[in-house]
Amino acid sequence: MNILGDISTETFLSEYWQKKPLLIRNAFPEFESPVDPDDIAGLSLDEDVESRILIEDMANQSWQVQHGPFSEESFTDLPKENWTLLVQAVDQWIPEFADLLGQFSFIPSWRRDDLMVSFAPKGGSVGPHYDLYDVFLVQGMGQRHWQLGPRCDDNTKTLPDLPVKILETMNVEHEWTLNPGDMLYIPPSYAHNGVAVNDCMTFSIGFRAPSEADVLQGFTDHLAAELNNDKRYTDPDLKSAAVSPALIDEDAIQRFSQILQENISQPGQLKKWLAQTMTEPKYDELHQPLEEELEWQDIESLFKEASVLTQNETSRWAYFKDDLQVCLFINGQPQRVPESKGAQELAQSLANQRHVNIEDITSYLSETDCQDLLLDLINGNYLYFEG
Ligand code: SIN
Ligand code: CO
Repeated sequence: MNILGDISTETFLSEYWQKKPLLIRNAFPEFESPVDPDDIAGLSLDEDVESRILIEDMANQSWQVQHGPFSEESFTDLPKENWTLLVQAVDQWIPEFADLLGQFSFIPSWRRDDLMVSFAPKGGSVGPHYDLYDVFLVQGMGQRHWQLGPRCDDNTKTLPDLPVKILETMNVEHEWTLNPGDMLYIPPSYAHNGVAVNDCMTFSIGFRAPSEADVLQGFTDHLAAELNNDKRYTDPDLKSAAVSPALIDEDAIQRFSQILQENISQPGQLKKWLAQTMTEPKYDELHQPLEEELEWQDIESLFKEASVLTQNETSRWAYFKDDLQVCLFINGQPQRVPESKGAQELAQSLANQRHVNIEDITSYLSETDCQDLLLDLINGNYLYFEG
């Protein structure tokens, strides 16, 4: 299924991705939401789930934010209209949402952040704002009226003294009412405001875009952690400083610059850090390995009984290649992938899709290297059997 409608993936990437918004009517024909508003409210009662309620006081242009976990009473106390419940990372709790994310695999999976669900009665919105990441907004239930404005930046004025960032003004350039199954793509920094027309749910697929400051800090922290403290600044070629002993001269600057350059330009380290960072789980504590380690004999029969192997919803997978060797990372951890051709192929196949048909991997099951790989991934609780 092409969720981009008439537009090919290539056209989407070259003309819209990170460049301009796009409305796709009926991206998901006859769309049926995997959840109803009660399910979403129910999730927000769970202390492991990140949720917020935003209440807008239209008359006074003021906003109130409450943070979950909520209680049943939190909902009975709410006004009839003009509020929004936002529940983060629903893909980690509801497998159908993890599958929905899989529909966006034309973007690298390690770029995805999470799927957030919002529920709002009539008039509910999070206000005119902009995000610093790409987002696909899928209308899940009811209708939402979207207004889109221009790209914003640091200088764009926001209303003072509010717990949320709301734009002072927004020049509306496009307006659309979305029905279930319609989808709106918004690149980073574009002003947008979606107001519920009636009881409505919207699913936001958001992407990860680390700030350059985070990249710099993260990578240098990673490098520093591996450096031996005995490795020090040296200046065996020092010239006499007697004329101006307080001067930090060009030679010294050059020596420091060299320390930085030599450390930073290590592609091997960069790959490792990237795979580690981009697979770091959103909520570390949600993922646990199997309590009791299994042996191959314990799972061998399951490959005949089950039909599919599925990536755990709480796992993030990515790999890079070192020469031709697959370096697989899951949830920030390097995984041992045997060198055999079979294990290398299997590792990629398991990483690249959320569901793998067991039928498609049967030829690997007799290889001990592949058995070791599967066993490690199942014991790590990164894969589970379905069907
Ligand atoms: C919403 O679902 O109400 C807001 C999503 C967004 O603006 O990013
Ligand atoms: Co937004």
